[in-house]
Amino acid sequence: MSRDVLVTGVEQFFGEDELIVSKTDLKGRITYCNDVFLRIAGYTEKECVGHPHSIIRHPEMPRCVFDLLWEFIQGGREIFAYVKNRCKNGDHYWVQAHVTPSRDRSGTILGYHSNRRVPDRDILESAIFPLYDDLLKEEQRHGNRKEGLQASKQLIDDFLCRKGIAYDEFIARL
Ligand SMILES: Cc1cc2nc3c(=O)[nH]c(=O)nc-3n(C[C@H](O)[C@H](O)[C@H](O)COP(=O)(O)O)c2cc1C
Repeated sequence: MSRDVLVTGVEQFFGEDELIVSKTDLKGRITYCNDVFLRIAGYTEKECVGHPHSIIRHPEMPRCVFDLLWEFIQGGREIFAYVKNRCKNGDHYWVQAHVTPSRDRSGTILGYHSNRRVPDRDILESAIFPLYDDLLKEEQRHGNRKEGLQASKQLIDDFLCRKGIAYDEFIARL
């Protein structure tokens, strides 16, 4: 996705009792999304289903968070992550996402599933905004994407190492 997409800086919100749901195939192409997903993102079902999930990627999301997401789910594990998503009109909304592999009866991964709730504002402000700002700045300091990703991965590894915990433990303790 191009990093030059329109962003307005305007935040959108959804209800505490609402769940934003989507499912993807193994490559991250959307196979299902619920009405809440479509309403907040401002897309029609036709514009989403069959398209890459990065359709709602916000350019201010650090690349290394998605790298971790894919590492977990392709390895058969669940992951919780705070994500800033982009609406079709350039507005954004924050979610706390729980992403899991979907398996058939024999345990083979067929695709992935994400349920998203309203994130805790205090957690966003105290832990996630400063961390993501640092990660994004690190990525942007580098001339190419690959080097930027390597550098931000190193930064988050060092951050977790200093705390002496793994990523999933860090998120669970917030
Ligand atoms: C089930 C599932 C849900 C996802 N949800 C989101 C999401 O809400 N927002 C997002 O930007 N990427 C999401 N992704 C990750 C995207 O597939 C993609 O890796 C990410 O947008 C980065 O895109 P890029 O590699 O083109 O930069 C999800 C992936 C899966 C498998």
